Amino acid sequence: MNPVSERDALLAGLDPAWSTTDPASLLAEHEERSAELERLDAALSDAFRRWAHALAGAPDVKSLQERQVAVLGRERGVLKRALGELGQLPPDERRRRGAGLNAMRVGLEAVVKARREQLERAAEAKAAAGLDVTLPGRRPWVGKPHVLAQVQADLLDLFHGLGYSVYTSPEIESDEYNFTKLNFPKDHPARDAHDTYWIREGATLLRTHTSPGWVRAMEERRPPLRLVFPGRVYRAEQVDASHMDQFHQIDGLFVDRDVSMADLKGTLATFARAIYGPQVKTRLVPVYFPFVEPGCQLDIACAICGGSGKNADGSRCPVCKGSGWSELLGAGMVHPNVFQAVGLDPEVFTGFAFGMGLERIAMARYGVAEIRLFLENDVRFLSQF
Ligand code: PHE
Repeated sequence: MNPVSERDALLAGLDPAWSTTDPASLLAEHEERSAELERLDAALSDAFRRWAHALAGAPDVKSLQERQVAVLGRERGVLKRALGELGQLPPDERRRRGAGLNAMRVGLEAVVKARREQLERAAEAKAAAGLDVTLPGRRPWVGKPHVLAQVQADLLDLFHGLGYSVYTSPEIESDEYNFTKLNFPKDHPARDAHDTYWIREGATLLRTHTSPGWVRAMEERRPPLRLVFPGRVYRAEQVDASHMDQFHQIDGLFVDRDVSMADLKGTLATFARAIYGPQVKTRLVPVYFPFVEPGCQLDIACAICGGSGKNADGSRCPVCKGSGWSELLGAGMVHPNVFQAVGLDPEVFTGFAFGMGLERIAMARYGVAEIRLFLENDVRFLSQF
């Protein structure tokens, strides 16, 4: 075989388009290999150089593979074929050419390996280019309890410290528990359809307060009782900035022998100081509730005007409407008729109870002027607490 046809045979699988690709990625060691082959066999050296350029210029991994198969492929690669033809050569020639082909194979394998690494590194750099590590991070969105849930948890925590435990009762109540056993007369205006959401008129309703829980607790358990009753309540109210037709309450109940109004006052004072600070001014005002006797309400000095009822310019304080006080909760001594309704002897047992609205406490604590915000669940509002 003359050198030209030798070389042509080795270039049989080489697509001419491959040689036009950029050979800039050829390494110095490829050139050394080429020079080494040159000394051995000029035809091989030329073929090596052209294959090396084709491999080193492969634009991506897929075309590198294609070119690799054409030259080094174990079945149809041109090198394999050339090695197969060695047997026809005289022994001297065979040794020389065998060594040359082998050097060519080793050299081309090195080119393939180097090019593959280059392409992989380039792909990694490209992927990393989409990631700017100097940008500020994005904080994952973290939820938290609703502001009313927070206020409720704080209050329950406080009452827990005073020895109270939680009793929950149904939101769908009977007339009996919501009204009758709590000593509401049959013709009490609260039973009116205007104030109560009836499910079945006169029989089943959405509870209008959490006080029915006392009745259930006292029917179930024997005194001494020290319980708090948190929950949602419903009233058919005209909705405005300070009235909702559903809101939240916590009632408290303390029943034992010899419980007095002084115990109630002490408990309410402790409670008021715990949530509004030790200097808070309070007063108890007599008020009527059917289920307590005597009944009262606990007022605290208005947080806005400091109890004066006036703004700095002498005008009327809009929050307490000039009174200097704002109502915090209703309370009183459990009415004997209520004890009787649950089968407890009012000559033996006495007790006090109180009930407060969570929305009102939250509004005073955080200066919120619009009660409807609590139910809208707008995160722009809720995320502030
Ligand atoms: N249940 C009364 C209400 O909803 C509040 C209250 C509770 C009053 C306990 C007195 C004693 O208005």
